[in-house]
Amino acid sequence: MTRPRLVGFSANLRRPSKTRALVEAVAEAAAAGGGLDLRLFDLVDAGTGIGAAWSRDALSLPARRVIEALEEADALVVGSPVYKGSFTGLFKHVFDLIDPAALAGKPVAIVATGGGARHALVVEHAFRPLFGFFGALQVPTTVYAADADFTDGLPTDPGVQARIAQAGAQVAALLRAGIAADASAPAAPAAAAR
Ligand SMILES: Cc1cc2nc3c(=O)[nH]c(=O)nc-3n(C[C@H](O)[C@H](O)[C@H](O)COP(=O)(O)O)c2cc1C
Repeated sequence: MTRPRLVGFSANLRRPSKTRALVEAVAEAAAAGGGLDLRLFDLVDAGTGIGAAWSRDALSLPARRVIEALEEADALVVGSPVYKGSFTGLFKHVFDLIDPAALAGKPVAIVATGGGARHALVVEHAFRPLFGFFGALQVPTTVYAADADFTDGLPTDPGVQARIAQAGAQVAALLRAGIAADASAPAAPAAAAR
């Protein structure tokens, strides 16, 4: 049996990145119970050509790999630094290129980082409507962290760490519930019986 695939995606434009560290922390919390195939990507993996790709046909190979990994995931942890009060333009551009049906019913945890606390509600005001459009199963706990919540590039604030653990556990629980629902679903009728 193939293991459910959990994909972490961070819209950081440089490394090291606090957003990538936060996405990784939530994804690792989700995968802590074992049994998941965890993959992590960021915008640096997609390459600078992602911004020039106005359609799927124009995607470079590295960018296509990121887009396809997002579409093929069973669950996602997505994050972006806050730029000018919202997710970055390229974060939105990546999701503009994704098949509108690809994320329906999939567990998604939302993560953001900002310089300070002023834009903490970006997770509710910007990210939730986007993943609502996709019909994704957004977990209740979002994780926002400011510069002061990190030490040596890692999220060390106890409140943020508690939310990381909570969001990770929620993704894992939704994934397990989905797998259980699939396993107990009645088999599709054979073609001849239709
Ligand atoms: C162009 C730009 C715009 C930014 N706008 C905001 C902002 O509106 N609010 C905020 O809190 N931080 C803002 N920041 C700070 C970043 O969100 C913050 O440093 C973030 O944690 C960087 O994440 P990274 O380490 O993953 O790149 C901005 C940074 C840049 C470069």
